[in-house]
Amino acid sequence: MTDSLFIRACYNKPTERTPVWIMRQAGRYLPQYRAIRSGHSFTEMYKTPELATEVTLQPVDILGVDAAILFSDILVVPEAMGMELRFIEGRGPVFSEPLRNELQVMGLKEVESNEALSFVMQAIKNLRRELSGRVPLIGFCGAPWTLATYMVEGGASRHYRHIKEWRFKRPDMLEQLLSRVTDALIDYCRAQMDAGVQALQIFDSWAGLLDEDGFEHLALKYVRKLIGAIRRPGVPLIYFPRGGMLWLEKLGDLGAEVIGLDWNIAPRRARELAAGRFALQGNLDPTALYAGEEQVRRHTLKMLEGFGRGRGHIANLGHGILPDIPVENARAFVETIQSESAGFRNTEQAV
Ligand code: CP3
Repeated sequence: MTDSLFIRACYNKPTERTPVWIMRQAGRYLPQYRAIRSGHSFTEMYKTPELATEVTLQPVDILGVDAAILFSDILVVPEAMGMELRFIEGRGPVFSEPLRNELQVMGLKEVESNEALSFVMQAIKNLRRELSGRVPLIGFCGAPWTLATYMVEGGASRHYRHIKEWRFKRPDMLEQLLSRVTDALIDYCRAQMDAGVQALQIFDSWAGLLDEDGFEHLALKYVRKLIGAIRRPGVPLIYFPRGGMLWLEKLGDLGAEVIGLDWNIAPRRARELAAGRFALQGNLDPTALYAGEEQVRRHTLKMLEGFGRGRGHIANLGHGILPDIPVENARAFVETIQSESAGFRNTEQAV
């Protein structure tokens, strides 16, 4: 597997074509996913290793993507720390008792992932067996800042008033929380690697809520600690700071092999800022897949040309695929990458 396209691209090595996968690739835009989902709640699906295994494999079979990503959710970690979580139809995740004081932070449990999150580890083991080397398996977690945001807000939020109040009024309490979450994540990521994930992505979906100073001290500081503790030879790490493209230059010494890009930044500019220090993943605007197949091809080609072919680029969207995207358009995206990036092995151009 170390010689798969995806893993080689993560390590900035030459590849005969650009590998591609899609964030949220196992999801509601696939009729086969909806068929299983009609009989089970989302919670039931990620807690049942057989179901999680089955839907993880769907996009590999249906779209032919170059990597599988474990079907689960970033919020299983706060749940394992003792917070009651529900996914409400049409509204998304909700914690019934969001963190609002120090006592609640102190009351969070330490996480023994092999026990509290054994369903995740079992799904990973099943998947390695089922995939039997076809494509690598990506594990993931939420970044400490992003998880803390959900834990304090309790769910989707308009102004992120509570977490931002903590940030300015009670930084000590926020840092306490971030430390605890980081410790839980260290255990969780190590357990995923022990179980068999071959790469791991850290989703910092709310990085963009922060100012530059906050990004340094509340997001990166803890991601750095996490990465320092979980790094292993042969298991590349991807950091995806959504909304943080302005700070790309700071990420050279983070220890992540790959930085995931949202669509705010032009591929060429990202290449310049990365200056060969890390590989790049992304970054077509997910709504581009609402256009027809021909237009999807055109936009995808343009993105490919921006990144340059042949090295250090993993094609993806700039955020998760949306639930009402036509499958043909998702397939056009994948096919365009796979056919158009082939045969242009040009290692100079891409750095
Ligand atoms: O990429 C993949 O295919 C792997 C699976 C995956 C899911 N969630 C499945 C999911 C991953 C990597 C996540 C991460 C996740 N979860 C993030 C970070 C990535 C991002 O989007 O920024 C966040 C913020 C969450 C929290 C979360 N989970 C939200 C806000 C929602 C509701 C939004 C929605 O689409 O309904 C979820 C639910 C969720 N997680 C679904 C899936 C497939 C939808 C479940 C369903 O109703 O069938």
